[in-house]
Amino acid sequence: MDNILTYTDVHKRFNLESGLFSSFGRFVYAANGISFKIKRGTTYGLVGESGCGKTTTARLGVGMYHHDAGKIVYRGSDGSSFDSERMEKAQLKKLRQKMKYIFQDPAKSLNPRMNIYRILTSGYRHAESWPGESEARREAEQIMLDVGLSPGDLSRRPTDFSGGQRQRISIARALIMKPEFIICDEVVSALDVSIQSQILNLLMDIRGKYGLSILFIAHDLTVTSWFCDRIGVMYRGRIVEEAAAQDIAADRFHPYTRLLYDSIPSRMMIHRDRKSGTAAEFDSGRPLTGCPFEHRCPYSVPRCTEEVPELEKVGDGHLSACFRNGEI
Ligand SMILES: Nc1ncnc2c1ncn2[C@@H]1O[C@H](COP(=O)(O)OP(=O)(O)OP(=O)(O)O)[C@@H](O)[C@H]1O
Ligand SMILES: [Mg+2]
Repeated sequence: MDNILTYTDVHKRFNLESGLFSSFGRFVYAANGISFKIKRGTTYGLVGESGCGKTTTARLGVGMYHHDAGKIVYRGSDGSSFDSERMEKAQLKKLRQKMKYIFQDPAKSLNPRMNIYRILTSGYRHAESWPGESEARREAEQIMLDVGLSPGDLSRRPTDFSGGQRQRISIARALIMKPEFIICDEVVSALDVSIQSQILNLLMDIRGKYGLSILFIAHDLTVTSWFCDRIGVMYRGRIVEEAAAQDIAADRFHPYTRLLYDSIPSRMMIHRDRKSGTAAEFDSGRPLTGCPFEHRCPYSVPRCTEEVPELEKVGDGHLSACFRNGEI
């Protein structure tokens, strides 16, 4: 199976100063050497706490941001390929039809003044693949059925629908362009638990039906392990552990992954900065010089502050970036 999307040592920092002051540079280091691959037809889950760089990583992958260093390569099933180092505008436009981004908050991403048919087709009608009005309507009706809504809903407006239904509309809007890759960025986080499982089941269905590859982003390792084939755990702009979903559910190597999975007492223990004893937040305002998790890790040794650990094999297809792999 080949890879649909490959990140190699990708870096991205945001400059918080603009205009005249930009050269003074106050930066946020959001991606500090991200490397992973998404195999065609599979679902890759990115998990990690708020601000660790999940959305930035996803947006880099669809060309919404440009990275500072590293390489991102996308390969379409039709043989088309996109290389971030040589990407041109026309290529980017094509790429955007194949890769669709579904956002967390459907209320904000659907224009309340448009009816659902207009919402579904507003991007599509400018695409090369636009089939004309009557065929597009037929496709829209079918997609409404596929996402569990009715073709009659096409003439209604977003405000007529519940949160879960609006998320179904966002999914329909992504599908109408017949993408082969979708990014689901916290698509269920804003929904009630019972609705979350309905939307996840829907995504499971359409994944098979449309033959999609998916990048699935979430805070919650449990939901992600259930939904994804492979999981990357992120901390401060790096992937610290990666494995098949069932392997990470069975055994975790990196101290941060254990923290994410494990019970409240250990979480409270590690959640404090080792040196100051105060609650620890990572500081994205300075470049990474050691292990991203060093400041919170109870197992840290001097080397951890001086060198950034790379992902190493700890089991079959299981990688962990820790100098103490195998010891702890
Ligand atoms: N456009 C931007 N300009 C400046 N800083 C940004 C921008 N986008 C993201 N950041 C910063 O980059 C870091 C990573 O943000 P990102 O949104 O990628 O994290 P995330 O893992 O998606 O978080 P969340 O779970 O809260 O969505 C954060 O410190 C954030 O404030
Ligand atoms: Mg995010």
